[in-house]
Amino acid sequence: MKYFIANWKANKSIKDALFWLKIFFQKPFINTKAKIIICPPYPLLYPLAEKIKNFSNIYLGTQNISEFDSGSFTGEVPGLIVKDLVQYTLIGHSERRKYFLETEEQIEKKIIQAKKNQIEPILCIRGKQDRINPIASIIAYEPDYAIGTGFNENPEEVIATKKKLSLKPKTLFLYGGSINEDNAKDYLKYQEIDGLLVGNCSLDPFKFRQIIDSC
Ligand code: 13P
Repeated sequence: MKYFIANWKANKSIKDALFWLKIFFQKPFINTKAKIIICPPYPLLYPLAEKIKNFSNIYLGTQNISEFDSGSFTGEVPGLIVKDLVQYTLIGHSERRKYFLETEEQIEKKIIQAKKNQIEPILCIRGKQDRINPIASIIAYEPDYAIGTGFNENPEEVIATKKKLSLKPKTLFLYGGSINEDNAKDYLKYQEIDGLLVGNCSLDPFKFRQIIDSC
């Protein structure tokens, strides 16, 4: 089983998202061992959840989760509010660390909030410099220089980095950073890499399907 995660970041209207799904499901899946997780902006979760409920291999995730319980925290989206819509959440994405100055302490609180609400955290790290909380059982390694640049880290280097992280044996290890329909299969032929976290290329339903079907 390999994971294919679409991180749509701050893109797509509801109309765009429904069109994406229509194209995405147009032809039958060749890769039946794929676990597909779409992480759209919050307002798209409900309409997407309604559309995908009859598909068994496709799940939803948020791109972030609040470090707070529900209450007087204007603008926050706590786990309790999305727990019935999503099964996963990204936590500590490098863009959250960079633009929203998320700290390791906040990231730890977010992991705890996710678990408390039965949402599986996917902890994003940029490398050895970021703390790996042992309660996170899915790690997405995304080196900063590879995000959105076209300079993907080659699979051998990704595996070498994984070894340095000394993860628990059952921890799932994903790679993200300039994955496209041509290079995706080079990663997933290795059993050390359990899946891919895809940004730009996941915005195009044809390309994201190509990534999944090529592996
Ligand atoms: P790109 O695939 O656009 O490089 O983005 C990677 C990423 O940040 C996924 O979370």
